[in-house]
Amino acid sequence: IKHLRSAADLDAETATLILDTAGEMAALAGREVKKLPTLRGRTVVNLFYEDSTRTRISFEAAAKRLSADVINFSAKGSSVSKGESLKDTALTLQAMGADAVVIRHPASGAPHRLASWVDGSVINAGDGTHEHPTQALLDAYTMRSRLGRIAGLRVVIVGDVLHSRVARSNVLLLSTLGAKVTLVGPPTLVPVDIAAALEPSTEVSYDLDSVLPDADVVMMLRVQTERMQDSFFPSAREYSRRYGLDVPRMRKLPEHAIVMHPGPMNRGMEIAPEVADSSRSTIVEQVANGVSARMAVLYLLLGGKA
Ligand code: CP
Repeated sequence: IKHLRSAADLDAETATLILDTAGEMAALAGREVKKLPTLRGRTVVNLFYEDSTRTRISFEAAAKRLSADVINFSAKGSSVSKGESLKDTALTLQAMGADAVVIRHPASGAPHRLASWVDGSVINAGDGTHEHPTQALLDAYTMRSRLGRIAGLRVVIVGDVLHSRVARSNVLLLSTLGAKVTLVGPPTLVPVDIAAALEPSTEVSYDLDSVLPDADVVMMLRVQTERMQDSFFPSAREYSRRYGLDVPRMRKLPEHAIVMHPGPMNRGMEIAPEVADSSRSTIVEQVANGVSARMAVLYLLLGGKA
């Protein structure tokens, strides 16, 4: 494939190749091979119109470990503030010879538009409430490395599904790889039609306590108050009481189950600090795995093997 705009761009074979390649990247890093010459002479542009800590830094680290030249573009402080359009910005990057553009943008669909304006590969690093496919890849990689497989896993995704690009990409990728996904949250934040439109096999529950005993993975989502109207969200206290993962709820999980969160977290709202910092939590591991997964995506897209 040339672009990674959606998790739906990945069939099971391609997704598995990316996860296997991420494993090889992680193994090399474990053997102190910090830098590979693979993308020497290639240019990767990180084009970020929205804030990011993990995704931006890990794409930069991934590109640098593959010896690519990296240009970091942040909309803040650029000519975007003078009204320059995404298209004109894209054409400017094109003139500078970008081989890959990693884009985060508040508008759903921005990576698709960008791909029609530039010759290089476009990688979606989060577009509005639409998708975040490399997050889903690093999450799948984390599940596979902790639990040994993805097919057959029962994955419970909890919280603000309505605004979550992480949830959308995870539903698509995990279903492709044979996991069974259940979306859980208040009815205003988990509309049944979202689940059905994404992937018909996805289940919906409004009762977190009832699904925890059968879960292999519980993935807590950030409550995105910045994208929300008051009507969606009664109160932080009520939300936390019904859908927050605290220690008593965590004890309802099977012994082997893991707790995930893409970050950034609202500690004390969707996840208790004791749960986030517990041995079941893979939150820090997910960040480390993000570098390997993004190395694999850059390597395969620019190396022409996927
Ligand atoms: N998980 C994630 O996308 O985090 P950032 O917003 O910090 O990149």
